[in-house]
Amino acid sequence: MESDGVRVPDPDEYLDVVALANEVFRHAEGLRPTMEADLPLLFTPGDTSPFRVIGPRGAIASMLGVVVTRILLMGVTLEVASIGSVATAAAHRGRGLAGRLVDAALGESAERDLVFISGRLGLYTGRGAEPVGSFLEIERVPAQLKADHRLTTVPYEDHWLDALVAMAQAEPVRWWRSRALWERLVTVRGRGSADTWIRLALLGSEPVGYLVAGMDENRAEVWEYGGSRRALVTLMASLPVERVVVYPGTWDLAARHELGTGATVPALGTIFAPDLGRLGARLAPLAAERATAPRGSTPGLSPLAQLFGPRSPSPLPMVWPGCLNYV
Ligand SMILES: CC(C)(COP(=O)(O)OP(=O)(O)OC[C@H]1O[C@@H](n2cnc3c(N)ncnc32)[C@H](O)[C@@H]1OP(=O)(O)O)[C@@H](O)C(=O)NCCC(=O)NCCS
Repeated sequence: MESDGVRVPDPDEYLDVVALANEVFRHAEGLRPTMEADLPLLFTPGDTSPFRVIGPRGAIASMLGVVVTRILLMGVTLEVASIGSVATAAAHRGRGLAGRLVDAALGESAERDLVFISGRLGLYTGRGAEPVGSFLEIERVPAQLKADHRLTTVPYEDHWLDALVAMAQAEPVRWWRSRALWERLVTVRGRGSADTWIRLALLGSEPVGYLVAGMDENRAEVWEYGGSRRALVTLMASLPVERVVVYPGTWDLAARHELGTGATVPALGTIFAPDLGRLGARLAPLAAERATAPRGSTPGLSPLAQLFGPRSPSPLPMVWPGCLNYV
């Protein structure tokens, strides 16, 4: 690709891309340079294929990442692209570089059903991306959660990989992930960054649930979970923190039932639908199946907002930093 100065960096420029991302998102914020460990789906050593950059070798001025994947949604498969890590070196800002990269990334995603963008800036909304959708934020004190004492919880170790993958792949709403990708995600997140906590719940010796959480001092954020929702509550109760937050998707009524209610918070990112008609057709089986519930169109909402709104026919996992697929 080479249009409007936008290019895929050569593999030997991988460390330059990492350096720019760390400069903008970590050093500039006074943080340690952890982009590779934090975003293993985007940063694979030596693989520059997910990146688009502007600027010559040795002096990359602007970058972004595009990860192409799939969402499996109760039998419907959506092809999606996730755009993130959009960064321009401080000295090159305000010249339209990021805008050109976003244009290129949206252009090459025209065949996808959906594009998730990890931000709400005018840079995205000005190009048709919409800040739609919401999460239910449930915050609890682990010590007050009712653990199921028939269950025990154990830290994730490599020999649990097959069980973890089997539980994840039985979830009705999930990101597509091969066993190899799971292995990479849990290896990088589990070992590369000390703030990630992966745990399984066992009934006897049988794994019945798992949880991946990000730890921040005395607060844990549940990023992903699978298996029994009773096990989820028990896993949350075992977290060594004072507060734990979970963001169940709208589809996840079981977790909500067990955990009680919470506050509705807007999804952090924006969504771009290259072809709303095509997206609607893909989601038609879900819409038809769920049409028995009282729902319908809400006046004044955009078509995309209706698809992702509270009456949505599609319980989609939205753009959320707390997720192993976040870029
Ligand atoms: C956000 C960022 C990528 C923009 O890069 P850029 O190359 O300067 O972007 P552009 O020149 O294409 O301008 C993009 C928009 O940002 C605005 N903008 C550019 N420079 C700006 C500045 N210094 N202050 C405020 N707004 C600015 C432009 O007006 C433009 O808005 P518009 O699309 O509504 O016209 C860059 O400022 C950056 O790296 N910021 C830190 C990391 C970050 O926040 N990334 C985005 C995560 S969602």
